[in-house]
Amino acid sequence: MNVRVVTTPWQSTEADWLIVGIPEGAEPSRALADLDAALGGRIGRLREAGDLTGKHAELVAIRDAAPLAAKRLLLVGLGKPADFTVPRFEKACLTAVRQISEKKCSTVAMAVPSIEPAAETAHAPVSVPELVQTIAIAAAVGSLGQGIYKAEPARFPIDELVIVAAPAAPATDVEAAAKRGQILGEAMNIVRDLVNRPAQDLYPETFAQRTKEFAQDFGLSCGVYDESRLKQEQMGALLAVAQGSERPPRLCVLEYDGGREDGPRLALVGKGVTFDSGGLSIKPTDGMLTMKCDMAGAATVLGAMIAVARLKLPVNITGYMGLVENMISGSSYKLGDVLTARSGTTIEVNNTDAEGRLVLADVLHFAVDEGADKIIDLATLTGACVVALGEDIVGVFTNDQPWCDQVLAAANRAGEDVWQLPMFDYFSDLLKSDVADVKNTGTRAGGAVTAAKFLEKFVDKKPWVHLDIAGPAFAATSKPHREGGGTGCMLRTLVEVAAAFDR
Ligand code: BES
Ligand code: MN
Ligand code: ZN
Repeated sequence: MNVRVVTTPWQSTEADWLIVGIPEGAEPSRALADLDAALGGRIGRLREAGDLTGKHAELVAIRDAAPLAAKRLLLVGLGKPADFTVPRFEKACLTAVRQISEKKCSTVAMAVPSIEPAAETAHAPVSVPELVQTIAIAAAVGSLGQGIYKAEPARFPIDELVIVAAPAAPATDVEAAAKRGQILGEAMNIVRDLVNRPAQDLYPETFAQRTKEFAQDFGLSCGVYDESRLKQEQMGALLAVAQGSERPPRLCVLEYDGGREDGPRLALVGKGVTFDSGGLSIKPTDGMLTMKCDMAGAATVLGAMIAVARLKLPVNITGYMGLVENMISGSSYKLGDVLTARSGTTIEVNNTDAEGRLVLADVLHFAVDEGADKIIDLATLTGACVVALGEDIVGVFTNDQPWCDQVLAAANRAGEDVWQLPMFDYFSDLLKSDVADVKNTGTRAGGAVTAAKFLEKFVDKKPWVHLDIAGPAFAATSKPHREGGGTGCMLRTLVEVAAAFDR
């Protein structure tokens, strides 16, 4: 996608589609009034007839937009100015882009709205660069579908995005915001594409290969550990999960050194189970159906590293992707097996479907050993987290509240919905084993917390935040503003964390 910023009046902006936001129950802005005048008052008449209300995400298409320079006009409701926020604006933009990207259209122009801040509102006013960044993200994300194996494409990427800004806005800020939005949107699309690839095509070796290619393209250094290196590293927990599959495991280590030479290092650790059958504790069909998505944590680590490198952020980050397939065969790990993790901790296996924490145990311990100062892990870890918080909210767990507060603040700036869950010590008691140091599952009750307590044992008291993305990483169905499949959730939060890390 090519992105340009122009400051032409809306009526004289050339494009296949021009997308313009309509506020609900407010006076039209000057630019909107001028557009309406150019159309001979058509917008006003639609409003009077009640066919255009400006209600949030309402769409009204005008296919013959003469005498505008754009061929077609799409009006999208922005809702009431008092409710106007970045996430709501993004939803409106995504709804519009998803509507028009069902057909091929090369050039799409999107107007930056000017919203009069309402007197009585609980929300912070939204700046022009924020609007511009949101438009660029929505254009990239909204025009990419999950139909990657369809003979007839169901959705067409936008070739050229034209962002129509008011001449008054400082040009450098607007250009930078457009670029940033494009980088974030494209990185989210990389994550979404990887998550949407089925396990027959994306397994540890191919995922590692793609990672190497991305690393080369974007100037990241990338190490790939194969099975024999993982044995040398004594990653007994990760290797146990992998041993039932014909597909050997991999560990990818991505390094980005944009910060001070002696500056702190952030570690991002991702669960990359390319398929989770449950192993011998096999999942029923319904539960297994979407388990190609169980590598979303690792994909998000990769996507965030790419975005950070493209944005040239002044930080030092290492990304770790633990890639395995959890399968059933004569060589599968078994219930009752006792594993020795890299840390030396012995783990009794109660349930082979609690595999993500076994993979992460070894990778987290490795990251600590390699000198991580602060850690964030991302994992589609527990169905219990989805039960607790629903499908759209990320569960947050920590051993260090100040570090967690930084991550929560970053999520808030990124407009992503997260919620912290408690880490009371008695949840650890549920993991006590009679035969080993710990077992890999607790009770059904509190399952998201016991999983987090398990991970905590492997971070050696380093400041650590665990993000359980089991709900939001993969959308079961499409909605007007969101395609089903991989979502790219938390990528923007990670980039916000990175941007503020060493300040
Ligand atoms: N990958 C699953 C968790 C999951 C569930 C991700 C739904 C996305 C959507 C994980 O490996 C798993 O199977 N967890 C078990 C843990 C249990 C056996 C303690 C679960 O949540 O049932
Ligand atoms: Mn599982
Ligand atoms: Zn899993």
